[in-house]
Amino acid sequence: MGYNIAIDGPAGAGKSTIAKMVAKQLNFIYVDTGAMYRAIALYMIKNGIGKDEELIAKNVKNANVKIAYVDGEQQVLLNEENVSGCIRTEEVGNMASFVAKVGEVRAQLLDLQRALAASENVIMDGRDIGTHVLPNADKKIYLTASVEERAQRRYKELCEKGEKCVLEEIEKDIMARDEQDMNREIAPLKKAEDAILLDSSDMTIDQVVERIIQIYKEN
Ligand code: DC
Repeated sequence: MGYNIAIDGPAGAGKSTIAKMVAKQLNFIYVDTGAMYRAIALYMIKNGIGKDEELIAKNVKNANVKIAYVDGEQQVLLNEENVSGCIRTEEVGNMASFVAKVGEVRAQLLDLQRALAASENVIMDGRDIGTHVLPNADKKIYLTASVEERAQRRYKELCEKGEKCVLEEIEKDIMARDEQDMNREIAPLKKAEDAILLDSSDMTIDQVVERIIQIYKEN
């Protein structure tokens, strides 16, 4: 059994940036479970399957998601095609949040996520890692930040990429995503009782990373 660190939290809390840095320092594998949901969302978009839970449930078995590592970076394969470069859009993110409500989708990804954690030392981020995927994780973190701060961060990130965006729209999107992720029936986003709450609104990335390393070192 590998050593497992679970990081859950809402969209835009900085989970992936921070988990990647922690993984590097600890020489752990970083597992981004959101990317798996995004790959399934991409499949549904590409195949013209809309926001229809029944159709998604029927079709998910045709979306074979695998994870590979190239130079330590997680790559997501969808039916053997590397789709890592095209799953980071807002459209795919919003669809990912929708497909994540469907039980068949979650069940299909659960085995893959647990298998990775069983064989490796991992830091895994998502929405239900501490509550559902790895309830016995060695350390659990719930990383959050205010809606305003998360929207600001995403706005800056998109502007830096040269994408046109409106702050108010990003804020609305984040609130809609929170609502969907926190209120779905199966494995909703919530803090595990034994998770440590980290609010990064007023913390720098380095401070959050340092705090998590400290938590890892504590017994
Ligand atoms: O972390 P992210 O934004 O890439 O995740 C995209 C969506 O996938 C998120 O809005 C909800 C879903 N998701 C989930 O339901 N459970 C996870 N463990 C990870 C992501």
